[in-house]
Amino acid sequence: MLARPALPAFIEFESSTPPPPAPIGEEARILGKNAAISAQTSFALGRAAAHRALAKLSAPTEPLLRKPSGEVAWPVGFTGSISHTPGIACAVVGKTSQVRSLGIDLELETRLSSTEVAKRICTQSEFGWASKSPHNLLRLFCAKEALYKCLYPCVQVFFGFQDAELAQASADGTTLSLRLTKDLSPQHKAGFCQDIVLSFDQGYIIAAAWLPIDKS
Ligand SMILES: CC(C)(COP(=O)(O)OP(=O)(O)OC[C@H]1O[C@@H](n2cnc3c(N)ncnc32)[C@H](O)[C@@H]1OP(=O)(O)O)[C@@H](O)C(=O)NCCC(=O)NCCS
Repeated sequence: MLARPALPAFIEFESSTPPPPAPIGEEARILGKNAAISAQTSFALGRAAAHRALAKLSAPTEPLLRKPSGEVAWPVGFTGSISHTPGIACAVVGKTSQVRSLGIDLELETRLSSTEVAKRICTQSEFGWASKSPHNLLRLFCAKEALYKCLYPCVQVFFGFQDAELAQASADGTTLSLRLTKDLSPQHKAGFCQDIVLSFDQGYIIAAAWLPIDKS
């Protein structure tokens, strides 16, 4: 099991490793019959982590279906986020009375990227920080994916890696503040900043973001 990231107490975190339990009800139909075994395992591990986290909040046990956007259709009154990488998955969940939205991303720490990938992920202003250490680029990538998953349910619009940039990094590199570079919604305009917390365990990096309910 992965160590819990530095999240507020009202957010539940769970991770899951093989073998995964069987998907619940209609979840089994989401991927389709032709999905690769590895994809089915990852999917089931993600759902298993989410179900366990929801159970800790006494949420009803119901299939976690997929919206056309790829978002999970969470039970009414709950929200969350799922991430998987081969062999492991994790999920964060919370009550919508306590958290507006959540985002999580999980990657192998050894997944280092090429210059081409750096060009796709980094804005001009980020290249300096990202090239300081081979791990910084991965941290930024992970943080940006967590930001996307956290904000998408609120803004309902795709935004790419160039649409947010590093505003600040804590001295120990475990909190990155990302700033939107374009308007996504009336509440999430260019300049909007979101902190992402990073944690490291068992060779994995986890990036997590939560949007407080008093922050639109
Ligand atoms: C959607 C995306 C972030 C998923 O990340 P990934 O590393 O490929 O895969 P992960 O395993 O970490 O996450 C997959 C999970 O993300 C969730 N997800 C997918 N689309 C989502 C969306 N629009 N909003 C919120 N969560 C979403 C799902 O739960 C999915 O798992 P599931 O299909 O088993 O339910 C990625 O594929 C993507 O499209 N990135 C481009 C957008 C982006 O990151 N922009 C950066 C902005 S600064």
